[in-house]
Amino acid sequence: MIYLDNAATSFPKPEPVYQAMDRFARTSLANPGRAGHRMALAAEKMLDDTRHRLNQLFGGRAPERWILTHNCTDGLNLALKGLIQHGDHVVTTDLEHNSVSRPLRALEKTGVISLTRVASTQGYVDAEAIRAALEPKTTLVVMTHASNVLGTVQPIETIASLVREAGAFFLVDAAQSAGVVPINLDATPIDLLAFPGHKSLYGPTGTGALYVGPRTDGKIRPWREGGTGGDSSSETQPSLLPYLLEGGTPNVLGASGLAAGIDWVMERGPDVLRNHEVSLLQQVVDWAERSEAWGIAGRWDPATHVGALSLVAPEGLTPQDLGSILDVSFGIAVRPGLHCAPYIHRALHTFPDGTLRLSPGPFTTSQQIDRFVEALTEITAGVL
Ligand SMILES: Cc1ncc(COP(=O)(O)O)c(C=O)c1O
Repeated sequence: MIYLDNAATSFPKPEPVYQAMDRFARTSLANPGRAGHRMALAAEKMLDDTRHRLNQLFGGRAPERWILTHNCTDGLNLALKGLIQHGDHVVTTDLEHNSVSRPLRALEKTGVISLTRVASTQGYVDAEAIRAALEPKTTLVVMTHASNVLGTVQPIETIASLVREAGAFFLVDAAQSAGVVPINLDATPIDLLAFPGHKSLYGPTGTGALYVGPRTDGKIRPWREGGTGGDSSSETQPSLLPYLLEGGTPNVLGASGLAAGIDWVMERGPDVLRNHEVSLLQQVVDWAERSEAWGIAGRWDPATHVGALSLVAPEGLTPQDLGSILDVSFGIAVRPGLHCAPYIHRALHTFPDGTLRLSPGPFTTSQQIDRFVEALTEITAGVL
């Protein structure tokens, strides 16, 4: 199988991730917490080590500010439902994944918030358009760092500064950027940063993180309450981070894989990993430009792109049919459809069928991309 669906979850994982999880599962897979026995302590240390690595990679204030979540959706919901209050005005964009759009729309429909959705142009959100959407009662701006449909990277540094000036909170969905685009929380005024561990940080599914910056202290409420392994006499959730926002048995086995994945990323550096993926996409862009029949969605600018690209199929071929033919006849895995991001597809007039998204990973080769392009050429020739 030629796996070109890394934007959904990365596969394969780097070898050290498999090894770390195997080792951990066989020696230390106890329930972390203050039980005091050595296996429980080893499990707790694994969580702590993972938070330290995240803090180092992203320049956070302190390891305990990293809440380990089950995926990116979990972190985004924690942030949105923990912070938003009745009467708030929230600004978002048309690039968002349903993990942002759906909770916000539900809050809007029930009259809890008013919502402004800023339109992007060719996959890019203009910082000035965000500024123009801010109102005196805006409490939160939430947006994706990189579009999962188009791969376009947004100017979050500029936007973070203007949101901070306005006094609102800034929540960034870094699902498609964490691990492949440098993010420096020390230099950029981001209050909350959510991402999965299972995409470009190469951990297993069931992992993710939410960074909670100091401005949210005393304001963010727990969304999930329960046991934390310590402070058991407290009638309510402990106020100490990360325990305030982490209830229940954590995915400690997943954390062991995530920690190894972060090490792997830090050894190479996000830029090297992004450049590899973008140079593979360049092959596809060059082919699409030569072809009469195929187009790409959004503006192609390799300097502000991650490794996801949407192809617009010729008339007579639906992305769904193409996805099936690629899978069944060529052994190639891609993602057709709306990619959980209906607003941007409406804006691009690719709704409801969507596009054909390919997303190479660190182990994808140029030869595999050649094979993908040949397959599309062959399918197109057979239909048109
Ligand atoms: C931009 C974006 N946000 C959020 C998510 C949700 O991530 P998860 O599936 O880890 O909850 C995704 C997943 O593809 C995504 O691409």
